[in-house]
Amino acid sequence: IIRSMEKALRRGSSMRRSFSSETKPERKVAVLGAAGGIGQPLALLMKLNPLVSSLSLYDIAGTPGVAADVSHINTRSQVAGFTGEDQLGQALEGCDLVIIPAGVPRKPGMTRDDLFNINAGIVKSLCTAIAKYCPHALINMISNPVNSTVPIAAEVFKKAGTYDEKKLFGVTTLDVVRAKTFYAGKAKVPVEQVNVPVVGGHAGITILPLFSQANPKSNALSDEEIQALTKRTQDGGTEVVEAKAGKGSATLSMAYAGAVFADACLKGLNGVPDIVECSYVQSSITELPFFASKVKLGKNGVEEVLGLGSLSDYEQQGLESLKGELKSSIEKGVKFAREN
Ligand code: NAD
Ligand code: LMR
Repeated sequence: IIRSMEKALRRGSSMRRSFSSETKPERKVAVLGAAGGIGQPLALLMKLNPLVSSLSLYDIAGTPGVAADVSHINTRSQVAGFTGEDQLGQALEGCDLVIIPAGVPRKPGMTRDDLFNINAGIVKSLCTAIAKYCPHALINMISNPVNSTVPIAAEVFKKAGTYDEKKLFGVTTLDVVRAKTFYAGKAKVPVEQVNVPVVGGHAGITILPLFSQANPKSNALSDEEIQALTKRTQDGGTEVVEAKAGKGSATLSMAYAGAVFADACLKGLNGVPDIVECSYVQSSITELPFFASKVKLGKNGVEEVLGLGSLSDYEQQGLESLKGELKSSIEKGVKFAREN
């Protein structure tokens, strides 16, 4: 009896081994802007992700050092650093997922839209290379203003004939991370259990946390407290920009959020069921062509853009008032990409 149990256990463990290698196919991930404030900790976190087999770190300068450093970590992925436009093709070739935190960050007193003039061109040139070298990769756009850089990317891919709306994501996970943290603090619930959808876009009032749908529920929060939580979530980025006093914007919390979202994308690609995250994607759940909401992730990227669910009167008002700004940020991105 003991011998046959041993055999069954051995069979089980070899099945587990083959199952686990089946669920971890080769996945190449690139970080563009990898030597930056977000890029470096994000490179670290992606090196820790066992779903990544090849990690490609690209920047206009400084990547050999970051790549050498990260490559010494004894985890699955092979790391390679690439510098300058000549090496961009090599960095991108064969990628399943490209994460883009390239571009300038805000200083106190600036809006995200003030970054448009510099970052729009950076995003456009990186997306042109993506269309050429890895047209089927999922794109996680972090560069601001996300409300415009995602439409820019879409236009670049359309022009190149490679656009697949299921594969383009604006990363709004940091808004969700903040909403969860701030809600847990006020509602006095364990932060690791909290879930809060955040919809709309990624700038000021376009960031709309839906605290009426937060879990675990809290009946203890007054309307004033919900409004203060909403405002703090909308101003979370500015809170960090001011605290850093000229030395940039959120990098560490953003790297964490970017790693969470990238992991969800990889799980979706690998066929793990029921992966849902909020993201700014092409959408028809409102009249706006791009909108952040809960998205189900699958083997081809977006499997389903989920609806908004029921909103409180306050959230409904917030939704109506964000539409004007979001619409003009989208149009600004589209216009730039078409004219340049
Ligand atoms: P950073 O200046 O520290 O790093 C940016 C990096 O991009 C630099 O290393 C720079 O060399 C690189 N870069 C510039 N042009 C490039 C190009 N053409 N190709 C490749 N790399 C290029 O800035 P950061 O703090 O890492 O922020 C990066 C961007 O992320 C900013 O636009 C910022 O506003 C945005 N951001 C977005 C979120 C979000 O929630 N989506 C959160 C935080 C920051
Ligand atoms: C954030 O939300 O932290 C980022 O968009 C960076 C910024 O400029 O606020």
